[in-house]
Amino acid sequence: MKQVHFSHLLRTLLVIGLTSGVMSVRAQAVDVAAAEDLIKANKCGKCHSLDKQKDGPSFQKTAAKYKGKAEGDAKLFTHLTTSPMIEIDGVKEEHQKIKAKDDAAVKNVVKYILSR
Ligand code: HEC
Repeated sequence: MKQVHFSHLLRTLLVIGLTSGVMSVRAQAVDVAAAEDLIKANKCGKCHSLDKQKDGPSFQKTAAKYKGKAEGDAKLFTHLTTSPMIEIDGVKEEHQKIKAKDDAAVKNVVKYILSR
């Protein structure tokens, strides 16, 4: 009897493990709609577009710049949350800090940009 219960427990644990594994993979996927909404709400499009150079680099250019580099996520997260100094037409100004409900929303935007 005990044996049966034990294997049942193991199977239950295995199922839980597999399910949470699938969920964490899903949590890492980019939510494109949420990222685009947040970028729009922050008016980042004033200086950035998907594929055209404006005052700031296109998201495709930034994705290419960090392609294959492990530090891309951290660099962009810092860029978007600490208002580093940038230069536009020779004039220095602070880069716009992104307004988002939490870090996860910012990380989603970073993933979105890096996957363009
Ligand atoms: C007033 C214009 C302006 C606005 C508004 C702006 N940016 Fe930028 N952004 C720039 C410029 C200029 C650079 C280039 C800075 C450099 O390379 O020194 C830049 C750089 C970047 C980079 C590349 C950073 C890197 O490490 O290569 C990303 C990503 C970015 N901006 C995202 C955003 C997002 C997201 C928003 C909205 C929250 C935003 N920007 C709003 C002008 C702007």
